[in-house]
Amino acid sequence: MNYSEEIKRLKKEKNAVILAHYYQEAEIQDIADYLGDSLNLAKIAIESNADIIVFCGVHFMAETAKILNPRKKVLLPVMKSGCLMADMITPAALKRYKEEHPNTKIITYVNSPASVKALSDCICTSTNALKIINHYLDQGESILYCPDQNLGKYAMKLGGKNFDVWEGCCPIHHHLDPKKIIELKEKYPAAKVLVHPECQESIVKLADYAGSTKQLLDYAIQSEASIFIIATEKGVIHAMEQACPNKTFILASPSLSCRDMKYTTLKDVYEVLNHETNEIFVDDTIAVNAKKALDEMFRLS
Ligand code: 13P
Ligand code: SF4
Repeated sequence: MNYSEEIKRLKKEKNAVILAHYYQEAEIQDIADYLGDSLNLAKIAIESNADIIVFCGVHFMAETAKILNPRKKVLLPVMKSGCLMADMITPAALKRYKEEHPNTKIITYVNSPASVKALSDCICTSTNALKIINHYLDQGESILYCPDQNLGKYAMKLGGKNFDVWEGCCPIHHHLDPKKIIELKEKYPAAKVLVHPECQESIVKLADYAGSTKQLLDYAIQSEASIFIIATEKGVIHAMEQACPNKTFILASPSLSCRDMKYTTLKDVYEVLNHETNEIFVDDTIAVNAKKALDEMFRLS
């Protein structure tokens, strides 16, 4: 079966839209109506007039789309597509922290379960984390940033103010060895190093530019340089090569591959769209409270 053609037909028939994160396989990026990072995809999900959203990404992304669009049907092609970082925080643990720190504002990275978002004052993504954290700090608030320790420490370093940081991380970014980048820089001295702030400080300090996946892509498009070392998940290289066919992109390490982002195949997308299976549901109270924290993010960013 020609899955791409069948998906196109079903999309029209059912008024469906396909959103894909840059970390998805190339074949999925190529059939997506919209490609983006966490923030862009959340915004597109709100703006879309589709009745069905097929979210090619991981569970927290589809869950966020559902919270923002309670009346739309949101389908996740592979239900086991999770996020190792999102699993590093639970509502029970966050509730305990809140009991011990009743006056602390909770700023939660979008890579988290809905039940954790529901206990938060504001959500952020890698695009707007610095702005949102600084907003609360400028108001004199004490804050907890959860669950990504690296983005939290990065914001702390740039802003020069201390706050609490949860000890979670994205293992794919966190375990990147700086030696890999140093070696590649020696081999390709003209290359610009682009880094996602989910990496540790030892990596970020080697960067010519650090930012969200979309910000890295935009930097590559606008840069005069023709060769780049990429320190984020490897899927983005496909998007970069599509946007800049004359530039060279070198992945900093083959370990930069997220298993959960790679589960989705064209067949999965076809199956869920055809049978309308793998629908995402969120408990009503959790959804209402999580939406308040997401709306706060949109208000501040
Ligand atoms: P962004 O999409 O905000 O760049 O975050 C990267 C990520 O790890 C998504 O899972
Ligand atoms: Fe989660 Fe990391 Fe995979 Fe993103 S790349 S989905 S943060 S495990």
